Amino acid sequence: MIIAVDGPTASGKGTIAKALAAHFGLPHLDTGLLYRAVGRQVALAGGNPDDSAAALTACAFPDALLDDPELRSETTGGLASRVSVHPAVRQALFERQRAFATQPGGAVLDGRDIGTVIAPEAEVKLFVVASVPARAERRFKEMQAQGRAVALAEIAADLAARDERDRTRAEAPLFAAPDAVLLDTSDLGRDAAIEAAIAIASQACNRD
Ligand code: C5P
Repeated sequence: MIIAVDGPTASGKGTIAKALAAHFGLPHLDTGLLYRAVGRQVALAGGNPDDSAAALTACAFPDALLDDPELRSETTGGLASRVSVHPAVRQALFERQRAFATQPGGAVLDGRDIGTVIAPEAEVKLFVVASVPARAERRFKEMQAQGRAVALAEIAADLAARDERDRTRAEAPLFAAPDAVLLDTSDLGRDAAIEAAIAIASQACNRD
């Protein structure tokens, strides 16, 4: 069984995807981390994330980079959003994601284009959304917990800019697959969001 969890940043999709993987006993891939690694690698190499050739070269990042805590920062998130517009980058990361999705037994993947491009055949497709203020608040608390000082208004502006870039890019823009179930987590706590997602997935695949 393939479970695709898509949605904008800080919508809760990562938490939901991890919980679904644990519930159904499936491996999980956070595909945003791959784009973040490419963005970080470009920065480390002193390259320009808006340059397609530099971004493509960065797709050969070492696997150890996936453990770099800096990957979770807002700065790297912004770089990821910029490198992800290049078709060559999306193509370079496609096989890795596709192989993970189609492994025997199935998998849970979260990202932006899992249900539309990477695994359109997924049995379960969730599109997780939340309002910008709700997402900014969550990100703000996460940052505070990590001891990073960022202004709430700055986070909200950054989220809105990334949403816009993800939605309007020519290649694999962020949108819900027609057969995806929409889950709005704006007013849901962590546990309630997970419970709702498990219910949707169980119904879609007729098991629990
Ligand atoms: O989900 P996360 O915030 O970690 O993703 C970082 C960036 O990577 C996103 O803003 C998006 O531009 C890009 N991304 C993508 N396709 C995916 C996952 C992430 O374009 N499947």
